[in-house]
Amino acid sequence: MNSDKACTIVIFGASGDLTRRKLIPALYNNFRKRRLDNGVRIVGFARRDWSDDTFRDHLAGGVAQFGAGSDADLWRDFAQRISYLKGNLDAPADYTELDAHLREMENGAADRLYYLATAPDFYGPVCDHLGAAGMAGEASGQRRIIIEKPFGRNLDSAMTLNQRVHAAFAEHQVFRIDHYLGKETAQNILFLRFANTFFEPVWNRRYVANVQITVAESVDVGRRGGYYDKAGVLRDMFQNHLMQLLALVTMEPPASLDADAIRNEKVKVLGTVRPISLEDSVRGQHAGYRESSGVAADSQTATYAALRLFIDNWRWQGVPFYLRSGKAMPAKGSTIIVEFQPPPDVIFQLGRQACFTPNFLSICIQPDEGLQLRFETKVPDTVAESRSANMSHSYHDAFPDIVLPDAYERLLLDALKGDAALFARNDGIETSWRLVDPIMSGWPTDPEASPLHVYPRGSWGPEAADDLLAKDDHAWRMGCCGLPCD
Ligand code: BG6
Repeated sequence: MNSDKACTIVIFGASGDLTRRKLIPALYNNFRKRRLDNGVRIVGFARRDWSDDTFRDHLAGGVAQFGAGSDADLWRDFAQRISYLKGNLDAPADYTELDAHLREMENGAADRLYYLATAPDFYGPVCDHLGAAGMAGEASGQRRIIIEKPFGRNLDSAMTLNQRVHAAFAEHQVFRIDHYLGKETAQNILFLRFANTFFEPVWNRRYVANVQITVAESVDVGRRGGYYDKAGVLRDMFQNHLMQLLALVTMEPPASLDADAIRNEKVKVLGTVRPISLEDSVRGQHAGYRESSGVAADSQTATYAALRLFIDNWRWQGVPFYLRSGKAMPAKGSTIIVEFQPPPDVIFQLGRQACFTPNFLSICIQPDEGLQLRFETKVPDTVAESRSANMSHSYHDAFPDIVLPDAYERLLLDALKGDAALFARNDGIETSWRLVDPIMSGWPTDPEASPLHVYPRGSWGPEAADDLLAKDDHAWRMGCCGLPCD
């Protein structure tokens, strides 16, 4: 790190919210931690008629608000690396001008990282224009491109977009971002499984009764109604974040931490998910959603979904996986719960319970990052009465001096280094679309198999989602990761 090698980060759509809230605060934090190479420069490219200083002032507020606080001297040093060029994403001539501007600034060989922080409709056109302007070729330095989600609207459009991206860029140049993969706790799943010896032997159909992945949000769509009403929860959360978490929990050990070794295993396991039947899906819309700004008055968009699915391989055959995510729920919390089979025989007293609470492991992705293992223990001063207890690992207690970095910090650094392990590959994106696409298209055509349930704001979603688990005699568990414990 801290090499003087020139590298330019070009942010397309730089006047938008993502740049101010996420990208610049993440780059600033990396700069503050001395992880950004000296040769890194940032160029914003957008339609507004801004000067370098207007752009910098616009970003300064974002850093103060969303970064780890800003120090005036440090910001001044950092801001010197930032400049702005006005341009139209649709105008080929503006790319030629951008390239000339960059060449003059770079004054020789330099790497470039293009960041598409634009509306998704521009992903294809920007790639076309970069290709046509000769800006994707790697003769005078590496050329990498980060593409935000959503990558396509369904399988067909994702395949078309992959082809369009590949017309200009080779796969090794492409970084499809999923910010969940940059979360420390998501990265820790592979450590938990493969840096320890005692989880992996029980991580299979012989010991696991079911796995539950919950990504609950207390917020509603806020000002994003226009986007969200066209997307819905399956596109917004399942195709990307939940499928990635599922892959991390279920994949086989990769041969190394090499990007392709990891992504091969993810694609392999997602490719063995049995097609999900409509009867194994529940969709909901929170009360009041249709009054949100930008949302159609008769909208059928789901703000909540739950899926029950199975993985047809030796490790997971017969184990149900339950995935759910929704807006306007009682709390924000993302957890993965691995519930284990009960002991084969009970020789103890059960106290007031009809049976033992199963052992389960909660992987707390956010907000109370950590792990909890629920197990049974003898109640003191009884002959053989059992009660559930927790063994906990909290990031806050274990690493009191470390502020968990925002996901974009790590992802941007990795993309600058060319490490794509935490980014989705083309076949990974297509494999997960293949899973959710039939549900998305089945919902409107077969409302009987999966009606749209209205659920109250501040509730855990439609009751029908409980029935999904009841089919297998299971029930949603909360874990304790910022969510109420059961
Ligand atoms: C985004 C979705 O990808 O993830 C949002 O578009 C959602 O709708 C967000 O709110 C959740 O991310 P996090 O990190 O807050 O769980």
